[in-house]
Amino acid sequence: MDILRTKSVEQSIRDTEAPEHRLRKRLTAVDLTIFGIGVIIGTGIFVLTGQVAKLTAGPAVALSFVVAGIVCGLAALCYAEFASTIPVAGSAYTFSFATLGEFPAWIIGWDLMLEMALAAAVVAVGWSGYFASLLESIGLPLPAAIAGDDPVVNVPAMVIVFILTAVLVAGIKLSSRVNTVIVAIKVAVILLVILAGLFFVKAQNYTPFIPAPVPTEQVAGLKAPLIQVLFGITPVSFGVIGIFSAAAIVFFAFIGFDIVATAAEETIDPQRDMPRGIIGSLVICTILYVAVSLVVVGMQKYTELSTSAPLADAFAAVGQNWAAGLISLGAIAGLTSVVMILMMGQTRVLFAMCRDGLLPRKLARVHPKFGTPARLTVVIGVVSALLSGFISLGALAELVNIGTLFAFVVVSAGVIILRRTRPDLPRAFRTPLVPWLPILSVLACLYLMLNLPVETWLRFVIWMIVGAVLYFAYGYRHSRMARQDAGQAPQA
Ligand code: ALA
Repeated sequence: MDILRTKSVEQSIRDTEAPEHRLRKRLTAVDLTIFGIGVIIGTGIFVLTGQVAKLTAGPAVALSFVVAGIVCGLAALCYAEFASTIPVAGSAYTFSFATLGEFPAWIIGWDLMLEMALAAAVVAVGWSGYFASLLESIGLPLPAAIAGDDPVVNVPAMVIVFILTAVLVAGIKLSSRVNTVIVAIKVAVILLVILAGLFFVKAQNYTPFIPAPVPTEQVAGLKAPLIQVLFGITPVSFGVIGIFSAAAIVFFAFIGFDIVATAAEETIDPQRDMPRGIIGSLVICTILYVAVSLVVVGMQKYTELSTSAPLADAFAAVGQNWAAGLISLGAIAGLTSVVMILMMGQTRVLFAMCRDGLLPRKLARVHPKFGTPARLTVVIGVVSALLSGFISLGALAELVNIGTLFAFVVVSAGVIILRRTRPDLPRAFRTPLVPWLPILSVLACLYLMLNLPVETWLRFVIWMIVGAVLYFAYGYRHSRMARQDAGQAPQA
């Protein structure tokens, strides 16, 4: 039984050339950076900033963004090497197939569903919240049964997912154009917050910058962070430790730069442009995040920040309601592109998995007219819509973080492995300081994972077990590598 069979880099690249599975190459470094910003800036900055400043880090939330940005930066340098060496749809999944083998690759592909399909649903629910509150503010409230905090079925979330599915089916260039407009609006709103906000910053709001630590109420049982259960560490809010705890939460704000790697196969010159797209979008977002958080905690005392719409409410608090309305509109536009690109990334990963026969290959057919994996896109659209419509996803957002961090760990370790197993491969971008930088990246991601609650870890383990069962029930036998080993033609 060879569950660790690897797929050579050359084979991965050859597979992309089969006509019925060929994606169109149209994207440039600028498109990729815009893609990155489109998916990165979302719920994290629009919602979590206030929550984290108020409860965990105080004005030092800006430093939490720096810490999370550094952790992501380390992982981004590892992603950049992989994406420029193996420019094939599928991101971490494809990279693991080349380094660790088929079963670990399947597990990562399965894990990425936690990041993308689940996050798409989580952000769609956030979108619906902003949408409902905007409608309410213009005197058109939606019935509680279909929107708001606890609806029977979240209709706006489902509708936005279906609309975006249609956009994705119609073609990547169109999606990229829609995304460019949205990103422009989103970045304009963020710049508005920074520039207009500066006029309302009061120096006294910055003192104390790092509030004195206070022990948080002992969170017991399944809700406690794993690090507390394992090492008996009592969590504190604020202080220096609070900066790091907050970093594990605002990590969500950075999720997405890795998704740029899923578009490698649709990039005209991936060797050159992938590293630019991945690192460029991450750097731009980190700068914007730090600036926004500094301004927001300067506008309002951190203890008074709102936890649901902190950016808009900080302006409302200084009497600037016009800005509050604009920011809500920007958030709606901004969250739209996050959902869209998360779904796009998800289809690309599944596409690669189907092509390898680990999932039914028929699902991965490219639509003759649109040149996109239309069937898969529709499947993902329906699954994400159902999740967003019917399931309350609050706690599941943490599952998104753990799934993503796990993928970062594997990709970082994979860089070291591929350097050993295939030193000969041309690497347009080389991660600096190998093996030290990837090792640091693994440790940093594990540290953030330890800060997540026990129940999140349990859900994560259960999801992985389901994945393993599926692999042995289907993927192991249908895999293209298995059929090649047995001398059979791959299934259509
Ligand atoms: N980074 C994305 C967000 O903050 C997922 O919404």
